[in-house]
Amino acid sequence: MKIPVSVESVAMETNDIKRFRIKHRFNEPLPEIHPGAHILTYLPSNEGVIIRPYSLTNRTTDGRYEIAIKLVQKSRGGSFRWHHSVTVGTELEISFPKNILKPELLGRHHVFYAAGIGITPFLTMLHWCKETGRSFELHYGASIKEECLFYGYLKESFKSETRFYFSRERRKERIDYYCSLQRHPIGTHVYICGPPSFIENIINAAKNLGYPRERIHFEAFRSNQIKTKTSPFKVKIEKKCVPVKEDQVLLDVLNENGLSIPYSCRVGQCGTCEITVKKGDVLHQDSFLTEKEKLSFMLPCVSRGKGLIEIDHNSLNLI
Ligand code: FES
Repeated sequence: MKIPVSVESVAMETNDIKRFRIKHRFNEPLPEIHPGAHILTYLPSNEGVIIRPYSLTNRTTDGRYEIAIKLVQKSRGGSFRWHHSVTVGTELEISFPKNILKPELLGRHHVFYAAGIGITPFLTMLHWCKETGRSFELHYGASIKEECLFYGYLKESFKSETRFYFSRERRKERIDYYCSLQRHPIGTHVYICGPPSFIENIINAAKNLGYPRERIHFEAFRSNQIKTKTSPFKVKIEKKCVPVKEDQVLLDVLNENGLSIPYSCRVGQCGTCEITVKKGDVLHQDSFLTEKEKLSFMLPCVSRGKGLIEIDHNSLNLI
């Protein structure tokens, strides 16, 4: 089910990040959210509907949602459309809010590591921590202060819990996650959001220091490292062979061919869209499946076939 909404306001947050406030088209309050929630946005365009996941940075008391979108260099898709075509009054649809990340209720201490736009899913979580009296801290890295999203807000609202690191300013500071991870008490939950290498480095450091896997939480955002424009390939479903063009997403192609596969994050992180591969080589681009699982399964929201792949129609979990 989707919710019809329109854009109520647009504001420039930094040089390349815009903040959008979205309201229900019939003025109903939008659904309540859990801290860390995201939505899928369905933005109409001449080339069809552009579907993208965005973290909710806020749900206002009168039931509006806020999202922040960074203009990705060379983007011709989601962020380009949002930055260049969306204005006050633009109509679109959104999904109901979902969570990949959410704060662990029993955590003794909560530590957030964010890089750049990776701060967005944490804003509602930080707010929840503060409101419910939880122990928490934020380590937030950006290139320069002017590129630091919500700098003023964070400084004012979470002054004693936040430490900023600016890699291109005079002191060239980077988050010393190894040192900081060593200091946290037993029972700490760690949350990470940023580019894949940032996430991977902190996960590895936490694991090396003995953090149990279930206390490490992360959310990746679609980056240039996920190749959405690669070679075309074909997918065989029962007796039908369907082409997938270089700029098409397999999940969408399956959907257009009557196979409504459930999905949530669309960035290869939640596993919702998992399908079974019978034959063929897969270019895996997710951060969810284990190496063993990749031998039999794929996540069509990000992963692609090489040449011809065949998927198991009988095992599809359709909606
Ligand atoms: S929709 Fe989440 S992994 Fe594909």
